Amino acid sequence: MVVLGIESTAHTASVGLVDEGAHVLAVASDMYKPPSGGIHPREAANHHVEVFPSLVERALALSSVRPSEVDAVAFSQGPGLGPCLRAGATVARILSLAWNRPLVPVNHCVAHVEIARVLSGLDDPLLLYASGGNTQVIAYSRGRYRVLGETLDIGIGNFLDKLWIELGGTFPGGPQLEADAKTGSELLPLPYSVHGMDVAFSGMLTAALALSARGARRPDLSYSVEVTAYAMLTEITERALAHLRAEAVVLGGGVACNDRLRGMVRGMTEGRGGTMYAPPRNLCVDNGAMIAWTGLLALRAGQSVPVEGSAVAPRQRTDLVTTPWRGS
Ligand code: ATP
Ligand code: FE2
Repeated sequence: MVVLGIESTAHTASVGLVDEGAHVLAVASDMYKPPSGGIHPREAANHHVEVFPSLVERALALSSVRPSEVDAVAFSQGPGLGPCLRAGATVARILSLAWNRPLVPVNHCVAHVEIARVLSGLDDPLLLYASGGNTQVIAYSRGRYRVLGETLDIGIGNFLDKLWIELGGTFPGGPQLEADAKTGSELLPLPYSVHGMDVAFSGMLTAALALSARGARRPDLSYSVEVTAYAMLTEITERALAHLRAEAVVLGGGVACNDRLRGMVRGMTEGRGGTMYAPPRNLCVDNGAMIAWTGLLALRAGQSVPVEGSAVAPRQRTDLVTTPWRGS
């Protein structure tokens, strides 16, 4: 079985193809980069509409899969930006109708979990999902993924991006801030905001900008922000592991590309005698392959929708959807 997946929740338009052995046959992506400032949803959606036809062609060419060999079309139903989601869903509906194949809606957050889980070979890991819009500690229990802890305000990636842009940089800030942090050395005091298994970042954003206005060096600020924010994420992950008496952690989401975060979570998990896995970076960021893989799991469990039942769901939380392929 081969499934084609369409991803378009925010800045990235992506098409992926996977088979039932979870082999990633192709990923073709194109990220919308605003000329200045943050993402404008409608401009990002226009970008996606323009690039999707060539992304579909590229993914098929890369994988040497013919349209007649595609068994289903999966798409990101939510959560995400409405105009961006609708662009991807429209492409998925067209392909499903043209190829006469089932249409499978997929929750974007669950897809980050499932691709990390299958690549890790771990059966029931805890997930630290750290991306632009989302920051969650997730575990499976009785029919669906449960959010044990999450950000109380903005996602970690949006926080890093916003800070970097306010400091004069461009989107996406996370990778550039990571490079900058490697040359920083002084640990500046920043608010450390952990509430049980939840975190918050807006206080740190305000404090970092105030330090910058008072002349703090940018590399020191980047270094301090990374150390403080990733320590918060490591702490809530450890708390969840301890409560669940669990031993395995997987990482997902764009911020899981970060070496310092990977190192800190690995150190904590292995220090407890457990195992940590982070996917290759092109599968941590938004990608069509994770949608295709989760669509394949869903289809095998009997989940597909008619076109008229395929509306997007911009606020569809991780814990709103059922995951029958994981049992009940
Ligand atoms: P979601 O809908 O899951 O919230 P998203 O739209 O934010 O996804 P992702 O591709 O999962 O998309 O994550 C993008 C985020 O990851 C951006 O905020 C970006 O700055 C951040 N990021 C990417 N690479 C790194 C890195 N090396 N270090 C820190 N942050 C990074
Ligand atoms: Fe994502």
